[in-house]
Amino acid sequence: MNTLHSLISSLFLFSCFLPLLLSFSPPQTHLPMQCLDDQRSPLLQLQHHLYYAPHFTFSSKFELWHPNTDCCSWEGVTCDAYGHVVGIDLSYKNLSGSFHLIFNLHRLQRLNLAGNNFNTTLFSYGFDKLQNLTHLNLSSSCFHGQIPVEISFLKRLVSLDLSNQDSCYLRYYKELQQPLKLENPNFKTLIKNLRFLTELYLDSVDISTQSAKWCETTSLVLSNLRVLSLSDCDLEGPLCSSLSRLSFLSKLILDGNPISYLPPNFLEISSRLVSLSLRDCNLNGHFPTGILLLPKIQSIDISGNDQLMGQLPEFPANNALQSLSLSYTNFRGELPQSIGNLKFLTDLHLSGCNFFGPIPSSIANLSHLVNLDLGSNKLFGSIHSSLFTLPSLKTFYLGENQLVGKIDEFPNASSSLIEVLSIGNNYLTGPIPKSILQLPRLEWLYIESNSFSSMKLDMFVHLKNLRYLTLLNTSLLIESDNRSLTFPQLESLSLRSCNLTEFTEFIKRQDKLVYLDLSNNHIHGVVPNWLWKSSLSFLHLSFNVIDFPKQLPLNDANFSFSMLRVLYLESCNISAFP
Ligand SMILES: *[C@@H]1O[C@H](CO)[C@@H](O)[C@H](O)[C@H]1NC(C)=O
Ligand SMILES: *[C@@H]1O[C@H](CO)[C@@H](O)[C@H](O)[C@H]1NC(C)=O
Ligand SMILES: *[C@@H]1O[C@H](CO)[C@@H](O)[C@H](O)[C@H]1NC(C)=O
Ligand SMILES: *[C@@H]1O[C@H](CO)[C@@H](O)[C@H](O)[C@H]1NC(C)=O
Ligand SMILES: *[C@@H]1O[C@H](CO)[C@@H](O)[C@H](O)[C@H]1NC(C)=O
Ligand SMILES: *[C@@H]1O[C@H](CO)[C@@H](O)[C@H](O)[C@H]1NC(C)=O
Ligand SMILES: *[C@@H]1O[C@H](CO)[C@@H](O)[C@H](O)[C@H]1NC(C)=O
Ligand SMILES: *[C@@H]1O[C@H](CO)[C@@H](O)[C@H](O)[C@H]1NC(C)=O
Ligand SMILES: *[C@@H]1O[C@H](CO)[C@@H](O)[C@H](O)[C@H]1NC(C)=O
Ligand SMILES: *[C@@H]1O[C@H](CO)[C@@H](O)[C@H](O)[C@H]1NC(C)=O
Ligand SMILES: *[C@@H]1O[C@H](CO)[C@@H](O)[C@H](O)[C@H]1NC(C)=O
Repeated sequence: MNTLHSLISSLFLFSCFLPLLLSFSPPQTHLPMQCLDDQRSPLLQLQHHLYYAPHFTFSSKFELWHPNTDCCSWEGVTCDAYGHVVGIDLSYKNLSGSFHLIFNLHRLQRLNLAGNNFNTTLFSYGFDKLQNLTHLNLSSSCFHGQIPVEISFLKRLVSLDLSNQDSCYLRYYKELQQPLKLENPNFKTLIKNLRFLTELYLDSVDISTQSAKWCETTSLVLSNLRVLSLSDCDLEGPLCSSLSRLSFLSKLILDGNPISYLPPNFLEISSRLVSLSLRDCNLNGHFPTGILLLPKIQSIDISGNDQLMGQLPEFPANNALQSLSLSYTNFRGELPQSIGNLKFLTDLHLSGCNFFGPIPSSIANLSHLVNLDLGSNKLFGSIHSSLFTLPSLKTFYLGENQLVGKIDEFPNASSSLIEVLSIGNNYLTGPIPKSILQLPRLEWLYIESNSFSSMKLDMFVHLKNLRYLTLLNTSLLIESDNRSLTFPQLESLSLRSCNLTEFTEFIKRQDKLVYLDLSNNHIHGVVPNWLWKSSLSFLHLSFNVIDFPKQLPLNDANFSFSMLRVLYLESCNISAFP
C-alpha cells in the first residue's frame, strides 16, 4: 500500500514537473546552470574593452551580451555544469581592442578568437594563466610579432591554430605587418611540452631560423599528431624519414616551403594520409606515383613544382581520390582511360604539364567533377561533347592544347552548371555549337585563336551572365548598329587582332565594361568621344592608326577620365595629343 502510494505520488510528481522542466530548461542536456558572478563580471568587463572595427577603425561598441541574462546563455559562451565558463568563441566578429579579461576565466578549455582584426602582438597576455586550455585558435586575426613562450606552457593543448595572420590583412587589402614568428622561443621550445597536440596549424608563421631539424623534432615530440599544417613558414628541407613515426598523421600541409627533396620512405609516410599538400615546394626528382593509389588518400596537391617528374598510373576501381592537383609539374605521358575509375573526383587540375594524347572519353563518367583543368598541355584529338554534359561541372579549361575538329552539339545545355569555359588556342574548326551559346550560367568564355567558322558577335547575346569574353585573333563579324547587341553583365572584352576597321558602336551600350582591348586591329580614325565611357579602367588601343579629336569634350558631365587607369597607345601614329 505504502509502495503503491509513493509510486502513484511520484508518478504524479513526475507528470507535474515534466512540463515545467521542459518549458524552463535550456536546450542543453544538463540541468539549468546559472552563470557564477566571478565568471559574469570579467565577461561584462571584457565587453567594454572590445569594439567592432570592420576596417580596423572603431565603428561601435561590442554589445553582444545582455547583463540581465544568464551569462551561460550568451552567444559564444559555454559553461560546465557548475556555471564555470569553459568555452569562448568570438570568431569572425570584426573585433578589435584588448581581451585581457579572458585570462581571469581560469577554467577555460576552448578559446577561439579567429578571424578578427586585432592588429596587436600577443606579448602582454599571460596565456599560461589558462592551464586547462585544450583548444586555442587565434588564426587569421592580424596578430604579429614573436609568439610568446607562455603558449608553450599550455600542456593540455590538443589543438593549436595560429595560422594565416596575413590573410587577415589581405581581407581588407591592408599593408601586411611583420607576420607572427618563432625565433625566441623557437619552434622546438614551443612544441616540446605540447605532447597531447593532435592538430598544429602555424601557416605563414615565420619559422625560418629553425634548421631542417624542425621535422625530426616534430616526429619525436608530437606523437599524437593528426594534422600538421605549416604552409609558407620558410621551412628548410629535406623532409625527414622519421615522419613515419607519426602513426596518426592524416593531413600534411607544407605548401610554399623550399623542401626540395622527399625522403625515400615517403610512400610509407603517406600511407595513412587522407590529405597531402606540397604546393610550390621546389620538389625535384620523381614523385612516388604509388601515393595516387593509396586507398585512404582523398586529396593531393603537388602543383607548382616544375622540376618534379611523374606519370599517371592506371587507377583501380576502389580509389578514394576527390581532388588531384598536379598543375605546373613535369608530369608527362598520356591520360589513362582508367581515370574514369576515380568516381569520387570533384577537382582535377592537370594544367601546365607535358601530357599528350587524346582526352580519355571516360572522364565523361566522373559525375561529381566540378573543376576540370587540362589547359596548357599537348593534348590532341577532338573534344567529346559528352564532357559538356558532366552534371556537376562548373569550370572547364582545355585552352592551349592541340585539339582539333568540330565540337558537336550536346543535350541538356539549359541545365548545365558551367560558369567558366576555356577552349582558346587550339585548332578547333566548324561553327561554335549552339549548345555552348545557351549555357545559362556561363560567365567566362575564352575561345580565342581557333578557326571557328562564321563567327558573329551577336551569337553571344543569349549568354545573359557573360562577364568576360575573349575573342582575340578571331575573324569576327560585328553588326554594330544592331540595337539588340548588348551584354548587360560584360566587364571584360578582348577583340585584339580581330581585323576590326572601326570603333564598333555597340561598345557604347556596355554599361559595366571595365576592360577593353582593341589593340592590333586596322582601326583608322579619330577616337570617338563615347569611348571615354566612365566605367572603363583599362583601354588598349595600341597598333591601330588613330587620332584624338582636336578638343576633348571636357565640359560634358558624362565625360570623365576618373575611372581610366591604363591607356595603351603604342604605335598608334598619333599626330596630336590633346
Ligand atoms: C565584418 O566586416 C566585413 C567588412 O566590413 C563585413 O563584410 C562582415 O559582414 C562583418 N562581419 C560581422 C560579423 O560583422
Ligand atoms: C582544470 O581541470 C581539472 C579537471 O579537469 C580541475 O580539477 C581543475 O580545477 C581545473 N583547473 C582550473 C584552474 O580550473
Ligand atoms: C596596425 O598597427 C600598426 C602599429 O603596430 C600600425 O602602424 C598599422 O597602421 C596598423 N594597421 C592597420 C591596418 O590598422
Ligand atoms: C579556427 O577557427 C576558424 C573559425 O571558426 C575555423 O575556420 C578553423 O577551422 C579553426 N581552426 C581549428 C584548428 O579548428
Ligand atoms: C562509364 O561507366 C560505365 C559503367 O561503369 C561503363 O560501362 C562505361 O564504359 C564507362 N564509359 C566510359 C566512356 O568509360
Ligand atoms: C538530360 O536531362 C534529363 C533530365 O534531367 C535526363 O533524364 C537525361 O538523361 C539527360 N540527358 C543527357 C544526355 O544527359
Ligand atoms: C591566330 O589564330 C590562328 C588560327 O586561327 C593561329 O594560327 C595563329 O597562330 C594565331 N595568332 C596568334 C598571334 O595567336
Ligand atoms: C540583331 O541581333 C539579334 C540578337 O542576336 C538578332 O536576333 C537579330 O536578328 C539582329 N537583327 C538584325 C537586323 O541583324
Ligand atoms: C586578318 O586579315 C588578314 C589579311 O586579310 C588575314 O590574313 C588574317 O587571317 C585575318 N585575321 C583574322 C583573325 O581573321
Ligand atoms: C549623360 O548620360 C546620361 C545617362 O547615360 C544620358 O541620359 C545623358 O543624355 C548624357 N548626357 C550627355 C550630355 O551626353
Ligand atoms: C604615320 O604618320 C606618318 C607621318 O604623319 C605618315 O607619313 C604615315 O603614313 C602614317 N602611317 C600610317 C600607317 O598611317
